[in-house]
Amino acid sequence: PVIYVITPTYARLVQKAELVRLSQTLLHVKNLHWIVVEDSATKTQLVSELLAQSGLRFTHLHVETPKEHKRKESDPNWLKPRGVEQRNLALQWLRENRQLSDGGVVYFADDDNTYSLHLFDEIRSTKRVSVWPVGLVGGLRFERPLVEHGKVIGFYTAWKPNRPFPMDMAGFAVTLQLLLANREARFDLQAERGYLESSLLQSLVSIEELEPKAENCTKVMVWHTRTEKPKMKQEEQLQKQGLGSDPSIEV
Ligand code: UGA
Ligand code: MN
Repeated sequence: PVIYVITPTYARLVQKAELVRLSQTLLHVKNLHWIVVEDSATKTQLVSELLAQSGLRFTHLHVETPKEHKRKESDPNWLKPRGVEQRNLALQWLRENRQLSDGGVVYFADDDNTYSLHLFDEIRSTKRVSVWPVGLVGGLRFERPLVEHGKVIGFYTAWKPNRPFPMDMAGFAVTLQLLLANREARFDLQAERGYLESSLLQSLVSIEELEPKAENCTKVMVWHTRTEKPKMKQEEQLQKQGLGSDPSIEV
C-alpha cells in the first residue's frame, strides 16, 4: 500500500531546513505520497519550488489557521493546537480523491521530528490503526503503548495520563480505508491541550484494537525533536544600518 504522509508546515526561518531534511528522509521510502499543507493564505514559492524539485510524489495544499486560533509570537508554544486545519484539509483531500478500494496508510509527520526509515516498514502493514513509541516527548525519554500478549493494555506516559489516547501525533498511523469509512473523523480545533490526537482516534478505534508495532512497542523509531529558533541579533543590528543580508538569497 501507499503511505500517505501528511505534513502541516508554516513559514519561519527554519522552514526550508526542516522540509529539506524531511523530504530527503522520505526519498528513501518506496511508494510514498507526501501531502504538504501550508498554514498560509496562498501556496508560497519556497514550498512550491522545494516540492517540485524534491523528487517525491506530492500534493501541495494550503489553508490558513483562523486568526483566533493562531498562536501569537508572545504566546507560549503550547497555548493553541498546531497544524489542525492543515491535517483536516489533507483528510478532506484524501476523501475527495481516493476511494475505499484504494489501499493506503496515512501517517501524520510534523516537519520538525526525526524519522527512522525503519518506521515506514512498520507503518506499511497497518490494518486499521497501528501504534509505537515516540522518543523525547511528554517530558520523558519516550512515551509508549504498553503491550501484553500482543495487545495494547495501556500507555507509559506521565503527562495527562487520563487522556483517551495519551499519544503524540508521531506515534500512530491509520489506514486510508478506515478514514474513508469514517468520513466525519477529524481533528478538533477546539481540543484541549494534549487532546488533539484523541479527538481523531476516538472516532476510529478502541485501545484493544490498536496494533502494536516496533517489536511490541519496545523500539523507538521516531523522535519528537524540536528545532531551536535561530537568534538574529546580528542580522537585526546590520539591518538597522542598512547592511542586512541579501534578501534575494533564500534560507
Ligand atoms: C506537538 C505534537 O507533536 C503535534 O503533532 C501537535 O500538533 C502539537 O503538539 C499540538 O498540540 O498542536 P509541537 O512540536 O509542540 O507538537 O508542535 P509543532 O512541531 O510546532 O507543530 C506541529 C506541526 O504543525 C508542524 O508540522 C508545524 O510545522 C505545523 N504548524 C505549527 C503549523 O502548520 N502552523 C503553526 O502555526 C504552527
Ligand atoms: Mn514539533
